[in-house]
Amino acid sequence: MFINSFVATASLIAGLFANGGVGISIPTEFKNEKRATVDSWIATENPIALAGVLANIGSTGLKAAGASSGIVIASPSTSNPDYFYTWTRDSALTFKALVDQFIATGSSTLQTEIDNYISAQAYLQTVSNPSGGLSSGGLGEPKFNTDMTAFTGAWGRPQRDGPALRATAMIAYSRWLIANGYTSTATNVVWPVISNDLSYVTQYWNQTGFDLWEEVDGSSFFTIAVQHRALVEGNTLAISLGKSCSNCVSQAPQLLCFLQSFWSGSYIISNINVNNGRTGKDANSILGSIHTFDPAAGCDDSTFQPCSPRMLANHKVVTDSFRSIYTINSGIAEGTAVAVGRYPEDSYYNGNPWYLNTLAAAEQLYDALYQYNTLGSITITSTSLAFWKDIYSSAATGTYASSSSTFTALTSALKTYADGYVAVVEKYTPSSGALSEQFSKSDGTPLSATDLTWSYAAFLTMVAARNNVMPASWGEPSAMSVPSVCSSASAIGPYSTATNTAWPTFSGGSSAPSTASGSTTSTTATSCATAAAVAVTFDELVTTTYGENVFIVGSISQLGNWDTGSAVALSASSYTASNPLWYVTISLPAGTTFQYKYIKKETSGSVVWESDPNRSYTVPSGCATTATESDSWR
Ligand code: NOJ
Ligand code: NOJ
Repeated sequence: MFINSFVATASLIAGLFANGGVGISIPTEFKNEKRATVDSWIATENPIALAGVLANIGSTGLKAAGASSGIVIASPSTSNPDYFYTWTRDSALTFKALVDQFIATGSSTLQTEIDNYISAQAYLQTVSNPSGGLSSGGLGEPKFNTDMTAFTGAWGRPQRDGPALRATAMIAYSRWLIANGYTSTATNVVWPVISNDLSYVTQYWNQTGFDLWEEVDGSSFFTIAVQHRALVEGNTLAISLGKSCSNCVSQAPQLLCFLQSFWSGSYIISNINVNNGRTGKDANSILGSIHTFDPAAGCDDSTFQPCSPRMLANHKVVTDSFRSIYTINSGIAEGTAVAVGRYPEDSYYNGNPWYLNTLAAAEQLYDALYQYNTLGSITITSTSLAFWKDIYSSAATGTYASSSSTFTALTSALKTYADGYVAVVEKYTPSSGALSEQFSKSDGTPLSATDLTWSYAAFLTMVAARNNVMPASWGEPSAMSVPSVCSSASAIGPYSTATNTAWPTFSGGSSAPSTASGSTTSTTATSCATAAAVAVTFDELVTTTYGENVFIVGSISQLGNWDTGSAVALSASSYTASNPLWYVTISLPAGTTFQYKYIKKETSGSVVWESDPNRSYTVPSGCATTATESDSWR
């Protein structure tokens, strides 16, 4: 009884906050109830983020009108700022997130998008642009027009992270293709595109270029880190396809060697070989770590793993650099989460926190938690001690096994700290759930580009990490030892036009989140915890006319207890005449059995029900944190 009313009150408060109830004073007894709030907000925001990503992908995305098939717009904003272009980096990071979602859920909707993306990238590789052509540097062009023509205006170019990130997204998908009997597709369709990107990296990694923020022409930690990863997993993929990438093998250790030079001794200097007067403290480094996280890795300093002493020290230095410069962070002590921007000297829109960087600060810590739990211990060194003391004041150097009470206390403090960053994002997200690029440092109002695809993708990867839904290993354990002498080198070619975009018809489809495919590529399959809640995607094929909307209603509170006024809306963001798909993702308690139906609401307000009988569904109870149910109107 007490528990029930407590939960109800806590979620009411969460609801008030979600509706922008700024300034509401929270009774003291609720102030530590971050977890319930964060959990329920994540459940609400997750489908919004997925729909937000899909709306920004051509040609059918609701907000991407005019963009070619498979092309990701950075944001629908066409002025102040104009982000209605496709960036290789944003697109690749987005599709890496979608590939991992596809592997976890088996959604055929996502698979079609992935195939379209790869076909579009194969074409873009051939488009001559101000950075060059296919074999003369053109792969380093940062952005294109949404109709896949070259953008010829002035810009910070080249940006050398794009080909590496794109290779990583395509390699992740190729692993799935191989594991599911489509090796010839991986070999003939995807590998030629990947191979060009790997060749770009082996040829140009040792030349300067613009950083991910498109401002600094020098050497960038993020770029070198993601390039190293791509070469390592690119070679592994080549071998599994009966090919080779000898240039990957010769260059990868040299990138790792070079990567060490970004470490100052106490934090990562994100841009080197440039004299721009900055400290080098930059979320560049946190993004570099989460995008080269390997769930099979130890807490290795050499590859800057999320749990490594170096990366924890760096997390503190970077996040602390934003404490005193943003009004919304004022008075928040070290060890409590704050809003995180790009770098403290930033002046773009006067320099503000970014959703994707605040989410990345959380994601690094969730990745680290996963690593400590998998490794079975935490080692605090003199490098990481200050980080740990912030969140657990009696922390001391030493190794703490998972059976110890110190391990329990440290992991619990880490989880609370990580959730705090999500709570910051929650606090400054409007009730619509829309994520723009930035939020104001003075009052948290959303700023700059609206519906930034990368913000939504960053939310999705944060949630996966928090739920221990881990991506496949990229091979870090056999690629983390640093050569004793670094050499600056490069290796040229091969390049060839990748013209084969003949995708097979994939069997299975969205109703088959085959555990087999999930477990082959997920390292957590045998070690994951039982999920308490599952994000269930309801796909309903139903032809509608303009003004009609589709909802799901059913016998449980999450589905409105059969009250059509409380039914949950589905999204039509992937709707086409040939595939009239409405869908929604809802977080439901594992093991729950319930009845439901879809309804159509007319503009007049009248409701059309599906025919009897009621549908029935049982939420899976196992390791999986996602599931898909595919239905057609009846
Ligand atoms: C646009 C870039 O995308 C952004 O990163 C940069 O800060 C501004 N231009 C100002 O240079
Ligand atoms: C500006 C950001 O600095 C850059 O990283 C991003 O690629 C573009 N905007 C597009 O989102």
